[in-house]
Amino acid sequence: MSSAQETILELRQVTKRYQTRGNILGRGKKEVLALNRISLQVRAGEIFGLVGESGSGKTTAGRLIVGLEKPDEGGIFLNGQDIVGLQGKALRRYRRQVQMVFQDPYQSFNPQVSIMDSVGEPLLTQGVAKGVEREQMVLAALKEAGLSPAESYAFRFPHQLSGGQRQRVAIARAMILEPSLLVADEPTSMLDASYSAQIFDLLLGVRGRLGATVLFITHSLASARYLCDRVAVIYRGNLMEIGPAQEVIRNPRHPYTQALLDATPKFGRCEDIPRFNTLLRAERPAADSGVGCGFFRRCGLAQRARCSMEAPEFRAMGEGHLCACHYAEPGPAQADQGGECHLGA
Ligand SMILES: Nc1ncnc2c1ncn2[C@@H]1O[C@H](COP(=O)(O)OP(=O)(O)OP(=O)(O)O)[C@@H](O)[C@H]1O
Ligand SMILES: [Mg+2]
Repeated sequence: MSSAQETILELRQVTKRYQTRGNILGRGKKEVLALNRISLQVRAGEIFGLVGESGSGKTTAGRLIVGLEKPDEGGIFLNGQDIVGLQGKALRRYRRQVQMVFQDPYQSFNPQVSIMDSVGEPLLTQGVAKGVEREQMVLAALKEAGLSPAESYAFRFPHQLSGGQRQRVAIARAMILEPSLLVADEPTSMLDASYSAQIFDLLLGVRGRLGATVLFITHSLASARYLCDRVAVIYRGNLMEIGPAQEVIRNPRHPYTQALLDATPKFGRCEDIPRFNTLLRAERPAADSGVGCGFFRRCGLAQRARCSMEAPEFRAMGEGHLCACHYAEPGPAQADQGGECHLGA
């Protein structure tokens, strides 16, 4: 990791709501609180994992960070500059610094545009290079992303690539402008384990060679453990726990993080990964929506009087390790010993 520990990205109390449409008469409209007052800081040069199950708000956070959508409340800062109101040239400059690899590689490409034109497009729109120079830069980016010989991939169309190759192309396109921050949204969710490992190594290379900061979005604590310096665990738009990746995974303090670890597929034996047998409840109604702990409805440890009414503050559990639970305490977690290894990506 870069020696610099300054903050490159900060989310301050970010809230995002979506309205669902309802039926043809407009009945059944609902508001979804995709992100609820999220605050976090990402340090320059680190790989920061945003971990949570499906629907927890990870992609929403990514889209807000790259400026594809705006938060309803709160601020997003890159190198101290608020990016929420950016428009025109300022927004274009920002897009050069912050790029995203999307979750679904099929949606990230126009099927009628060649890899050469697709990867080279940001060079044109940002006015960086054209003609032969642009072609050379595209070939170099493809090679850098592990697609070699680059010439044999550059003139194909997206459907002529495997899923893994498509994700490599997506990373090449995201990195061609040498952004300082790469948001990688579940880049391996459609790949098998061995190809996932190659993509992880590519992301490690992106950070190592170019010094880029990576926000790695994943549902898998195992992937985050392999790749990330720090992780934040999110549940239905609420941050639950944040800290050094190894510490959060070996010594999770939040019952939700413990449940996520318990739910991770297991292969082989591995002494250092704990199991918790955490009790998850069938969903129960909240006393008052939006009040109290975001995990109250599922939590086996919750005390109704407190957890349904009082939102827990983040409290320090260890060096840089914070947890938002009324009942979490610092110290070693009460895990089962001799757990099994979580290698599922
Ligand atoms: N455009 C939208 N309109 C309405 N609701 C939306 C919209 N986008 C996201 N949501 C809702 O916001 C919540 C968070 O969605 P999001 O896509 O950020 O989750 P996610 O953590 O990325 O999930 P996954 O792991 O499945 O990709 C979900 O409940 C989702 O249904
Ligand atoms: Mg998503």
